[in-house]
Amino acid sequence: MEQEADSTVLITGGAGFLGSHATLVLLEAGRSVVVLDDFSNSRPEALRRVAALAGLDGWTATAPGQWRAGPSTGVSLQVVTGDVRRVGDLEAAFAQAPIGAVLHFAGLKAVAESVRQPLRYWQVNVGGSLRLLEAMTAHGCRTLVFSSSATLYGLCEQVPISESAPVQPINPYGSTKAAVERLLADAAASEPGWRIACLRYFNPVGAHPSGRIGEDPSGLPNNLFPLVSQVAVGRLPQLQVYGCDWPTADGTGIRDYIHVMDLAEGHRAALALLEQESPQFLTLNLGSGRGHSVLELVRAFEAASGRPVPWQAAPRRPGDSAVSIADASAAQRRLDWRASRSLDECCRDGWAWQQANPHGYGD
Ligand code: UFG
Repeated sequence: MEQEADSTVLITGGAGFLGSHATLVLLEAGRSVVVLDDFSNSRPEALRRVAALAGLDGWTATAPGQWRAGPSTGVSLQVVTGDVRRVGDLEAAFAQAPIGAVLHFAGLKAVAESVRQPLRYWQVNVGGSLRLLEAMTAHGCRTLVFSSSATLYGLCEQVPISESAPVQPINPYGSTKAAVERLLADAAASEPGWRIACLRYFNPVGAHPSGRIGEDPSGLPNNLFPLVSQVAVGRLPQLQVYGCDWPTADGTGIRDYIHVMDLAEGHRAALALLEQESPQFLTLNLGSGRGHSVLELVRAFEAASGRPVPWQAAPRRPGDSAVSIADASAAQRRLDWRASRSLDECCRDGWAWQQANPHGYGD
């Protein structure tokens, strides 16, 4: 029961860090893409660069807040400024082309912010996903790859973490990811035909090797990798290392860092599988299966950049765990995909982006 695999793909949040890399990978695989993004935490410039990297000509405004690149027949990128919670914005996106599948990245993602503003997180992440599912149903589109997160495992004791580990989020951000997975499972069970993959990411880092697109956090970054990059480039004076007394070899926390291009390729593979096989509901970890400590990452970044990354020991951050590493074997088996890029490549590509764009897309 194969599905048409050359239809246009709608990518919500396609201008963000993960979304922009996934958009590029799909365009390079010959898929036309419609991006729906409200640019609340991203820039149209990211998509202009994606279009250029994909070799698409003519970045032109087609309507207020809408752009297009690429020929009128053949692979194209169309961009609609809009919010997944607004029916009218979703309709505008679905009106661009017959949509065969959706990659859903749009959402809020800062753990600490979610603790302060839980209702906003539920509204955007869960409410937005609900509206999107309604629009997909209305348009007869039932193929979806959802941007989930390993954060829903909470403080998992057992590593590596497999998909069968208990879902026990410890912050509102994680709760919203778990709730959307539940919502999708209920929708899939309610009627046949849904093809859904929930991809649980570990720690996505790095950038496209060209240095043209990468992570551009607004304000002070929350995550280790962009903080280390900003220290190396001189935007921040030093890194605070949250806890040097964890039960790990060097006392600092261990995480599973996955190159954003590996992650984007994982999405392409998941979409291909959904389109090739019978309708199904898939849940897969996307990680490298390898763990690196904070200090290992700092040293790898220093080597890649040739710059010092001064750091200072600080108390443990509330809610952190010692070790988080993916059991990535299910994704390997089902998708014939594995994260192939090393931590050194993550640092090399992340540095190329940071150095060429010290102030992100704002330069
Ligand atoms: N860390 C520091 N100093 C900092 C920031 C982080 O030492 O300034 C340490 C943390 O204590 C942790 C490691 O660096 O040991 C990684 O921290 P991140 O904040 O980069 O990432 P987390 O593993 O805490 O969480 C991230 C995302 C979540 C996501 C989760 C998936 O923030 O959204 O990975 O496992 F869900």
